[in-house]
Amino acid sequence: MTIDGLLALHTYRDGPPARMPLVLLHGFPLDHRMWDDVVHLLPGERTVVAPDLPGLGSSPSGEDVAGALGAPSEPSLDVAADAVAATLRAAGIERAAIAGLSMGGYVAMALVERHRDLVAGLGLLDTKSTADDDAARANRLRIADTVVAEGEVAAVLGMRRALLGETNRVARPDLVDRLEQWIRSQGPVGVAWSQRAMAARPDRTSVLARFTGPALVLVGAEDDVTPPSAARHLAQALPAAEVVVVPRAGHMTSIEEPEPVAAALDRLALRADGS
Ligand code: MLT
Repeated sequence: MTIDGLLALHTYRDGPPARMPLVLLHGFPLDHRMWDDVVHLLPGERTVVAPDLPGLGSSPSGEDVAGALGAPSEPSLDVAADAVAATLRAAGIERAAIAGLSMGGYVAMALVERHRDLVAGLGLLDTKSTADDDAARANRLRIADTVVAEGEVAAVLGMRRALLGETNRVARPDLVDRLEQWIRSQGPVGVAWSQRAMAARPDRTSVLARFTGPALVLVGAEDDVTPPSAARHLAQALPAAEVVVVPRAGHMTSIEEPEPVAAALDRLALRADGS
């Protein structure tokens, strides 16, 4: 595998060189499609791209990606971050406003630590900087073993409701269906690799304190997975963060309430322009 083809990179828009590109990193167990509604609503002209993270969407497996990078074979979000950096550089993107939702946020924080020059602005949506506790880690490893043993992703299908806020779980069956379709389209090997990689991630709160560029912390008011208290913790760690709490949305703000998410990402990218 060549570095050029490392991760599948979905180019939503091409913009003028004077505008900072916007890179969107998706959550688990999903792929770049969770950004479709937001990108549709983004004003102005700028390059907008979204990779599929290793083993998800159309990207090759985490094991193959690690092999191509010459990285250790254990699942790791460091591998995901290095793969995003290599994929962006191969596409001619040397600097960007980078925003990630949940697992995408974990990868964005790894990018700040490992590829600081790439990150002109940092968006952390429905995510947290802390590591898993022992129980959460054990649960992830159990799910990883289950999806591989069963050869299907049934063990993570319950997330289609848990990812949404209390309001939309009831009011928006269309979103439950959409999430179900996206989750069912993922392969068990990629789902297991992502769970193991997330289980191994370190606490990156101290990395944020060193990020003085423009930052955004956004969270759904009804996010039960990474609640507003986790967002407050991120905002306290970041020197220059705008904080946005989105009413009537849970963990999947990008599909539950895409308008305020698009507006906040546009403000982040404008702050990153010229930096
Ligand atoms: C996600 O949305 O990416 C996941 O909920 C992240 C996680 O499992 O920690």
